[in-house]
Amino acid sequence: MYLLGYDIGSSSIKTALLEVDTGRCVASAFHPQQEMQIASPQPGWAEQAPDAWWQNLKAATHTMLSRASISAQDIQAIGISYQMHGLVLVDSQQRVLRPAIIWCDSRAASIGQKAFEELGAEKCLGTLLNSPGNFTASKLKWVKENEPQIYEKIDKILLPGDYVAMKMTGQTATTMSGLSEGIFWDFRNETTADSLLEYYGIERSILPQTVDTFSVQGALSSAAAEELGLKSATPVTYRAGDQPNNAFSLNVLNPGELAATAGTSGVVYAVSDQLRFDSCSRVNTFAHVNHAESHRRLGILLCVNGTGILNAWMKRELAQKHASYEDLNRMAQGVGVGSDDLVVLPFGNGAERLLQNREPGAHIHGLKFNTHGSAHLFRAAQEGIAFAFNYGMEIMQAMGVNLNVIRAGHANLFLSPVFRETLSTVSGATIEMYNTDGAIGAARGAGIGAKIYRTFPEAFLGLERVSVVEPDKGRDPYQEAYEKWKTVLNSIES
Ligand code: XUL
Repeated sequence: MYLLGYDIGSSSIKTALLEVDTGRCVASAFHPQQEMQIASPQPGWAEQAPDAWWQNLKAATHTMLSRASISAQDIQAIGISYQMHGLVLVDSQQRVLRPAIIWCDSRAASIGQKAFEELGAEKCLGTLLNSPGNFTASKLKWVKENEPQIYEKIDKILLPGDYVAMKMTGQTATTMSGLSEGIFWDFRNETTADSLLEYYGIERSILPQTVDTFSVQGALSSAAAEELGLKSATPVTYRAGDQPNNAFSLNVLNPGELAATAGTSGVVYAVSDQLRFDSCSRVNTFAHVNHAESHRRLGILLCVNGTGILNAWMKRELAQKHASYEDLNRMAQGVGVGSDDLVVLPFGNGAERLLQNREPGAHIHGLKFNTHGSAHLFRAAQEGIAFAFNYGMEIMQAMGVNLNVIRAGHANLFLSPVFRETLSTVSGATIEMYNTDGAIGAARGAGIGAKIYRTFPEAFLGLERVSVVEPDKGRDPYQEAYEKWKTVLNSIES
């Protein structure tokens, strides 16, 4: 028997098939092979067509099924992980009304900032744990103000994963954790964020009904089953944002535990049982997959938007035509710590929460034609990403988060020795890497939601630590390079 997991990323759709008894991934696939496009019809905007996610999900499913010699009859449940904070609008016929405004779209940052000022920091932080910022509620307010003819046709608003679940089951729903990532959740009163809805003039009725993260959320319709090559009525039993899901994938569920990932965006995620927030909302707090009123589990989330997307840009624009990511990683290793004083700031993917939603763009600083080549750029980019993580981790530490041991999947930028050694050394954290990813995690989540796994430990059978990165003893050059990076950041910030 098997469980099927999906990870709806912004660069590709990944899928994994997990064998229930062994907890092992027996087949996986992703589509497309080149990163998916993010359309930017105006500077700072970022949109994707929800139907493209669905088409890519179908292609990934077909490839995965052709690789796994199993019968689709043996798939017992489906789990979905998805890119967070996006906005999908559907009418009463479940038709999509406009392209999705995705997580890294900056258009609503000023709307959120105004709300923060007018509602008051104390009220926002005390109840929502965040500034409304550039999250889904503010994006919806942008649609209301700028596209009223679309707004009035809205039946329900959905997050990207809710959209995929709707395509599968025909039902519109979300989760409480999903509402929190859109800033639709009031943690003080454990209910919808009515004061923000009222302030934005958004009717509560356009929020979908909620289902539990781990629960039977619907069954695959016969039309969807036919499109996907799966069995009709297979239950969808788990959905979560990709960051809470990444933490869940790594068995990070309890206070003090930490997860990280470095895909298109990079995140450090700490679980807490306290209502903690950053007073400038540079680091955010959302409901974790196992949060309940009686069992508080919050995810404190530091996000760097320009992570893998910068590495992908370097490969696409600056590397030799057939170079692979392994080639880039190898070249980066050939350059010394600090990249001979070349500094890269990775902030080229929309408003960075870490910088209070400013959008300075990426910077290459100190490029010398007689010193630096492409290998320096590849290294400086990866170092710059690790330094941006560390910059955010300093904010988390000031919030009382202890950052000694971080778990990460053996995937994305964590495959690069330069990235993981820089991150570990500059932050002083030990990084443990595991044989998992978002799609495998979503499959495990489906196993819990379907009650095939009765306990969390049972679901994590098969999760193995594959390596450990300890901070380098020679910390000084890393620290010097980080200080230089911060000086460049401060100079462009002022
Ligand atoms: C997390 C965030 C990103 C997206 C990427 O808060 O905005 O990591 O979830 O998919």
